[in-house]
Amino acid sequence: MFSPSAVLAPRVSVAIEEAFGAEFRGADPVLRPSQFADIQVNAALALSKRVGLPPREVAARLVERLELGDVCETVEISGPGFLNLTLKDGWVAGQVAAMAGDSRLGVPVQEAQRIPIDYSAPNVAKEMHVGHLRTTVVGDALARTLEHLGHDVIRQNHIGDWGTPFGMLIEHLLDVGEGTDEARLVETDPNGFYQAARAKFDADDQFANRARGRVVALQAGDAETLRLWGELVEFSKHYFNRIYTRLGVTLTDADLAGESTYNDQLAAICDELEAAGLATMSEGALCVFLDGYTGREGKPVPLIIRKSDGGYGYATTDLATIKHRVQDLKADRIVYVIGAPQALHLNMVWDTARKAGWLPDTVVPVHTQIGNVLGEDRKILRTRSGAPLRLLTLLDEAVAKARAVIDEARPDLPEETRATIAPQVGIGAVKYADLSVAHDSEYVFDLERMVALTGNTGPYLQYAAARIRSIFRNAGLEPAAATSTVEIQEQAERALCLALLEFGTVVTQVGDELEPHRLCAYLFQLAQAFSAFYENCPVIKAEPALRESRLALCVLTLRVLEEGLGLLGIEAPARM
Ligand code: ARG
Repeated sequence: MFSPSAVLAPRVSVAIEEAFGAEFRGADPVLRPSQFADIQVNAALALSKRVGLPPREVAARLVERLELGDVCETVEISGPGFLNLTLKDGWVAGQVAAMAGDSRLGVPVQEAQRIPIDYSAPNVAKEMHVGHLRTTVVGDALARTLEHLGHDVIRQNHIGDWGTPFGMLIEHLLDVGEGTDEARLVETDPNGFYQAARAKFDADDQFANRARGRVVALQAGDAETLRLWGELVEFSKHYFNRIYTRLGVTLTDADLAGESTYNDQLAAICDELEAAGLATMSEGALCVFLDGYTGREGKPVPLIIRKSDGGYGYATTDLATIKHRVQDLKADRIVYVIGAPQALHLNMVWDTARKAGWLPDTVVPVHTQIGNVLGEDRKILRTRSGAPLRLLTLLDEAVAKARAVIDEARPDLPEETRATIAPQVGIGAVKYADLSVAHDSEYVFDLERMVALTGNTGPYLQYAAARIRSIFRNAGLEPAAATSTVEIQEQAERALCLALLEFGTVVTQVGDELEPHRLCAYLFQLAQAFSAFYENCPVIKAEPALRESRLALCVLTLRVLEEGLGLLGIEAPARM
């Protein structure tokens, strides 16, 4: 890593140990860029109590021990005991040169963990909604980032491909006839198909009875019923894959691990829990009652693992995911990128699995909570008529809006080029909007703002990268040829260098904290630092040595922007 804080942290640790003794080995000083200094060290405050000295005195002792002559221009004690470090320009430039020579741009390879990551998980014969869009986009960015950090990422698309609705869906399929246009709706307009089945189920008793009978046949493994079910799943897969391709996410059929894959394990799970005394019968259902989960009036909340009709539900299947991920996939960390409202469900499932001995303490489950996507009325996003939004329509709209923005900004580009760029920008805009907000916050879905070329948007970053490419194109130069060392003359150059050096740290944090919005915020800052540099520092018109140095900075910025967007799953058009 080339980030000054990362490089200097071990040196500060050594100084702490030397100043206060071996028992302070491993004391973790906090170093970070701040508005007051290139790097601010916060160690004295935490140490002060332990060593029984006022913080400024602690800071003074650290300064005595710190050997930073090669790196820092000045080291000053400030405020209640911070150390303010001012880095030497030459050292910063040297770090930038080292980073430019590193194909990983300072992103470390971490000790590999096996990480199953559960994301997307739409439901068969149902429309994907904006919530599914968000888990898909966030999950995919995390999968890409964790993989880049050296982990074994195992994508698990836990699609909803089982359960009682299949009774009515199969009967409806038989009614409309296999292979008919109406049957094909599962592929093109799943909600249309679902609603039609639902309407009949609600209105027609005979149909409802057939549907119930079908559920029994499905659960009993009746061959013809399974074939029909498989057909519905197959159609849905086409529909999912159309959306995945459109979005440019990495999920493939090989990552499907739907609810149905766990069917044959559910009975054993219930038996095991019952035998262990963890599950008990309550009102005909088999339930797990856990300490600490109480609802209104202090009533215990059950985790239902077998319903009174004998069927298994969502909780039982999720218990099976844990066994599978721990025992078969050998997980070190298990990531569930799913809706925030499912926190209770997941916690109950994990606690049950821990009690049953299926989830050892060495395996860390994480719920990456996905917040709601809202409409302008601040309610869950729907169409004007109140129907759930069709995702493909939404993506079409985004691309059309992006096209309009590009037509206006770049009428000089050939029609063909603009047609290629529009989907890159439109889809990039939607993905970036999902990623740039903390994954657990709600946000208002506003296409107009998402596709804007200014502000913290995907198109702004794509444009920043494309603009750097155009500097080279206009000068008739190849970006790869700009390999000069960097010389810092202007303040804006220095600021850009410092921003560039943080890339490795930020990507590491995204992997550790599972928070892609940090990378978005970083790239936005970097693009702004680049803008300021480009406004203040002539590149092509500078005298030769300086020109080479500045071109090298341009290229490094370009590489970081493109790599960063790539980790987020966002394309970077070469021109825009
Ligand atoms: N299919 C579910 C839904 O649409 C999400 C499943 C999430 N994954 C899980 N392991 N529970 O809400």
